[in-house]
Amino acid sequence: MRFCLALNGSLCIEGDSVVFCCVAKQSRPGLPWNPETELPVERIRQIREALIKGLNGDLDQPIQEYLNYGLPNINKGHPCKGCRYITLSTEEFSSPATDKINNFLNLLGFTCCNAKCTYCTLSSKQNWQKIDTGINKGLNFLLDTGAVSKTCQIWFSNGEPTISNETMKTLSRVISDGYSVLVNTNAICFSPEIEKALACGGAQVQVSLDSYDRESYLAIKGVDKFQDVVENIDKYIAATKKGSIFYLKYIVHSKNNSRNDVNSFVDFCVKHEIRNVSVSGNALEGDAAPGWDNVDSDRQTLKSYGYLIAKLELQGIAVNSVFEHLTETEQLHAKREYAHAIIDLLELDRHDPNKLVDAVIYGFELARLTIDDATLVRHFRKLLLKTKIKFKNIAIFGMGAHARWITKEMEKLDIQPIVGIDNNPAKNKTYKFPVISPVDIASYPIDVIVISSNAYHINIYSYLKRSLNCENIEIVNPYLSSD
Ligand SMILES: C[S@@+](CC[C@H](N)C(=O)[O-])C[C@H]1O[C@@H](n2cnc3c(N)ncnc32)[C@H](O)[C@@H]1O
Ligand code: SF4
Ligand code: SF4
Repeated sequence: MRFCLALNGSLCIEGDSVVFCCVAKQSRPGLPWNPETELPVERIRQIREALIKGLNGDLDQPIQEYLNYGLPNINKGHPCKGCRYITLSTEEFSSPATDKINNFLNLLGFTCCNAKCTYCTLSSKQNWQKIDTGINKGLNFLLDTGAVSKTCQIWFSNGEPTISNETMKTLSRVISDGYSVLVNTNAICFSPEIEKALACGGAQVQVSLDSYDRESYLAIKGVDKFQDVVENIDKYIAATKKGSIFYLKYIVHSKNNSRNDVNSFVDFCVKHEIRNVSVSGNALEGDAAPGWDNVDSDRQTLKSYGYLIAKLELQGIAVNSVFEHLTETEQLHAKREYAHAIIDLLELDRHDPNKLVDAVIYGFELARLTIDDATLVRHFRKLLLKTKIKFKNIAIFGMGAHARWITKEMEKLDIQPIVGIDNNPAKNKTYKFPVISPVDIASYPIDVIVISSNAYHINIYSYLKRSLNCENIEIVNPYLSSD
């Protein structure tokens, strides 16, 4: 069965249209809408359902409900025909109900901003307040009529949301209604509503910094506001409670892709105790940019893309790497650069360099899978069995959610770790074996340490290699082992 998460559960409300796809650079089926009028909810429902149903029909056939409204039919068949985000699911897969928006509701029409980023095409529209009012009204209407499921995350994505009072009011409403949100902001203006959202535990807030000091900020963001932004970032981080995530973002592109740029950004992250970074490409550069193919996602950008991810992981910063702005070939280049950077930074044994690069890329892909993924489960079972045969006293490093899963897998294979290791051992009372701090490793007769973390495995591996005085202890990093 053909399925698209973006089509099934999302909706984008833009300044002049409602779009049934939240993924950039696709043909993005949608219908025109004038924000000065009511949101055409019934029409949206009909067209969405027909598009979802049609995904499993003949894709060369147009969608009648779509054509009925005179909408452009660029593909001649289904508007999603040929899209690389269509997935094939098993027959047993039952797709979620289509009567509500389940996944993402993306508000894309706030067309005004107080910055001038090099990579952004947004130009402030004269009637932006009207668009702003229409979109906020439209969203409130959808919420009032129960069209938005509580599982839906609401994205505040276009223009700068903090300069619109109405948008900030809407943000407060959706937070008190219990929705989770994703807010993209440049953080030039401090927003008490964003601070509150972070404190409520259901918010993701993302600030594209793309730079690291006053000069580089001015060159990329076009305004002299670095210091204000840094102060606001620090305040948002201080407000962030469990369940919320604050991301700093770096769009790697031709204007910030030198080795010095990337290293300085990583230093900034370490200094400001940033826990999560989003790394993305520039949608307007590279081969995946329709109409912009004169601008190359050049080798240096792809090199820095991979190097940046590796450097951040080495520092113990969780990285959300977004590849959708790169073509498959560009993605492969970026991943190879990541692998080379990891091999250098961890000083891995290069006796078979090609195999090693492949292993690091394989681990990178594995670490992006969820723990219920069949490939990941197979990989771990095989590795754990091999470890059981080779070693007697097994320890696990990293005792969070990943370890709860791995210990269950170990139980199935009749493996009993003698000890767990964690930087916060006091927090862990749930295991049958003791959980100790890394400084106490030498007090136990450990033969092998299995790293149990997908987000921090590089940092843990590097720590163990550098600081353990334990030539007799083997380290198994499941995400650096392709066997
Ligand atoms: C258009 S911005 C609006 C929100 C806010 N002003 C901000 O900058 O975060 C929404 C998101 O799009 C991203 N973005 C803007 N232009 C982009 C481009 N050319 N390629 C990739 N991402 C882009 C920004 O980094 C931001 O995360
Ligand atoms: S199939 Fe592609 S174009 Fe269609 S909604 Fe999904 S991502 Fe968008
Ligand atoms: S801050 Fe956001 S909306 Fe404003 S120019 Fe930059 S990317 Fe575009």
